[in-house]
Amino acid sequence: MGEDVLRVLDERTKSTFDMPFFKGAIRAMDLRKIKTDGTDFGVMSYDPAFLNTASCQSAITFIDGDRGILRYRGYPIEDLAENCTFLEVAWLLLFGELPNEADLANWVHEITHHTMLHETTKKFLEGFSPDAHPMAMFISTVAALSTLYPEARNVRDAASRRLQIGRLIGKVPTIAAYTYRHSLGYPYVYPDNDLNYAENFMNMLWRMVEPKYQAHPALARALDVLFILHADHEQNCSTNVMRSVGSSEADPYVSTAAAAAALSGPLHGGANEAVLKMLDEIGSKDRVREYVDHVKAGHGKLMGFGHRVYKNYDPRARIIKWTADRVFEVTGRNPKLDIALELERIALEDEYFIQRKLYPNVDFYSGIIYQAMGFKPEMFTVLFAIPRTVGWLAQWQELLEDPEQKIARPRQIYVGHDERRFVPMEKRVAKPSAASR
Ligand code: SDX
Repeated sequence: MGEDVLRVLDERTKSTFDMPFFKGAIRAMDLRKIKTDGTDFGVMSYDPAFLNTASCQSAITFIDGDRGILRYRGYPIEDLAENCTFLEVAWLLLFGELPNEADLANWVHEITHHTMLHETTKKFLEGFSPDAHPMAMFISTVAALSTLYPEARNVRDAASRRLQIGRLIGKVPTIAAYTYRHSLGYPYVYPDNDLNYAENFMNMLWRMVEPKYQAHPALARALDVLFILHADHEQNCSTNVMRSVGSSEADPYVSTAAAAAALSGPLHGGANEAVLKMLDEIGSKDRVREYVDHVKAGHGKLMGFGHRVYKNYDPRARIIKWTADRVFEVTGRNPKLDIALELERIALEDEYFIQRKLYPNVDFYSGIIYQAMGFKPEMFTVLFAIPRTVGWLAQWQELLEDPEQKIARPRQIYVGHDERRFVPMEKRVAKPSAASR
């Protein structure tokens, strides 16, 4: 093996530059050594959408997209989904190790006692029209928590960070449930501290007049597993937003709201809702082939298919399919599953999808389960945001503790006008402006 450097020859100057490899990458700042003369700014890397740019070092989640591997702090997602509770995995993601019995008990007690919302939050929610999208209400209400905890701005204070982390993980299910109850015009249901995280969420969603909500254990466990699967996924779009907003030292509430806003897009966490709309549009198994041909002709995408990193089956989709069978044993089979299975079968045999390495992702089957459990499609992305709040906070905390990190501020390649003289109004020629495009 030669030296652990990348040697670059600049044909413009015939100069060579050695760039030491850093954990298999090169530091982009080393490119700036490549200049044509002393006044030259130096070379930048150009990488729209960050297809090949590492923005940080992280020890939280590992993905091998070619082998379909996902691990949280080194533990395979399959083992965690089978053996852990969501709060156990939340501790792992945030603090790096699986909790012992005492730590877990204290952690569950802490989160349970942060599920209540300040009463003003309910008045804030009342301002939304009943048909407001639950994700928009969730984003706004999480941001509004920032007004209640001004000390959260002390992001460099570890004790304050720890307190806000507990508050956010405890409160996001309550906010989610309240947006759901508001959309139905039902009274809010207060948290019940006798119930676990998933059961309490179901209680706040679905308790009506019974004195004590009884969650079906199989459905509560299915929700807990779905929360585990959605908890973190390294530097995805919304996590990138969490890190970017967090890098300005904004408080964790507005940073989490910004991340949730990114998640709401249909190319990201909004895909689970879009999958159900797609399955409704297809309507039946025998129309799947026609729809697939429509997509191959360039009309739209197969929602719930494809991934920037996974070029093999998303391991989460496989576990979700297994979880669906457990849920359908209780709720009855969702007929949409037959359309989804036919869509997967046809797509996985079709050269268009094989060539582009498009497989079902985490969003393809999750909505079918949520719908069978009684959630309306508009709630699906909120169900994604609840567990991903843990991942966002773990990544936010890692960012703030990383001595290499500072405020995020990318560069650009300027392609606009060079300097030009001012044109007085009377000399301006009427031409179609950008505004009319
Ligand atoms: C999530 O990053 C994460 O980790 C995200 C996530 C997480 O846990 O945080 O895993 C959660 O967001 C999952 C993804 C949910 N989104 C969807 O299901 C929406 C549908 N999928 C696509 O929009 C797309 O696959 C993305 C956005 C997921 C990935 O897009 P890329 O990596 O930018 O790929 P691309 O758009 O450049 O596509 C490459 C080719 C293109 O065809 P050509 O231009 O080469 O002819 O594949 C095609 C695309 O048109 N393609 C699809 C397709 N996805 C990509 N064609 C049909 N259907 C699709 N779903």
